[in-house]
Amino acid sequence: MANNLLKGKKGLIFGALDENSIAWKAAEQAHAEGAEILLTNAPVAMRMGKINELAEKIGAKVVPADATSMDDLNALFDEAESLFGKLDFVLHSIGMSPNVRKGRPYTNLNYSWLDKTYDVSAISFHKIMQVMYNRDLMNEWGSIVALTYMAAQRTFSEYNDMAEAKALLESYARSFGYHFGKKAKVRVNTISQSPTPTTAGTGVSGFDKMLAYGEMMSPLGNATADDCAAYCVMMFSDYTRRITMQNLYNDGGFSNMGIAEEMLEKL
Ligand SMILES: NC(=O)c1ccc[n+]([C@@H]2O[C@H](COP(=O)([O-])OP(=O)(O)OC[C@H]3O[C@@H](n4cnc5c(N)ncnc54)[C@H](O)[C@@H]3O)[C@@H](O)[C@H]2O)c1
Repeated sequence: MANNLLKGKKGLIFGALDENSIAWKAAEQAHAEGAEILLTNAPVAMRMGKINELAEKIGAKVVPADATSMDDLNALFDEAESLFGKLDFVLHSIGMSPNVRKGRPYTNLNYSWLDKTYDVSAISFHKIMQVMYNRDLMNEWGSIVALTYMAAQRTFSEYNDMAEAKALLESYARSFGYHFGKKAKVRVNTISQSPTPTTAGTGVSGFDKMLAYGEMMSPLGNATADDCAAYCVMMFSDYTRRITMQNLYNDGGFSNMGIAEEMLEKL
């Protein structure tokens, strides 16, 4: 159903690891809507993932960058600038917690791993925006989006230290949204997505049950990675120019539910 919504636009997409990644679907859909894209991911993901397959499919260049490294980010934006000049959209689709990965409970966190969780999953968003802001790399009416989860607002017992990372990420969208809006008419938002079966998603303990619970509690069912990609495309398009500093739910209605009939029947 491509409609050339992003014709002539140029964007940078962080975080496509494999075909399940939300960033992968976003890159495919943005390309189908006419955008030119630069892909990036952490150097380790180049070796373990399939990003080069995606790059070939959509005719994109790939530049490795650890999103926590200011040197890597500056080198990435050098490439982006020489390829495209200024950018029209950016997707931050990055998340990782060593505490989650290594099964540390929330009540016994390793604090140096917590620093890493924050750096990779939230501060990287500030770093990316800071580089773009100071180097004036976004076009007017450009759009910056990061992906988040509702554990920033409500407690999900197994989401661990990623809950605070997402709260910080969403706060950066509001705070930087102010500065970027004033300086360059650039909007900054987060999309809060349903549980989605990806590498990062399935790493959360009890993920299958969270998925089933979400499905039961959402009148429209869980939003898929493709649904999230479609929402990203809309947020990159000119139809959403004055939406900024928002946390936008893409969750089939889950965030406004209390209890559902199907759940009552189960209990
Ligand atoms: N899957 C879900 O259930 C779900 C729900 C809500 C929000 N999200 C969010 O969506 C985003 C994308 O995750 P996904 O579910 O597509 O999983 P994914 O595992 O496919 O993507 C996560 C990406 O983060 C990248 N990454 C990790 N460390 C990095 C670093 N230092 N520098 C650069 N990139 C790095 C990984 O290489 C990977 O490509 C994340 O922010 C995640 O928290 C996911």
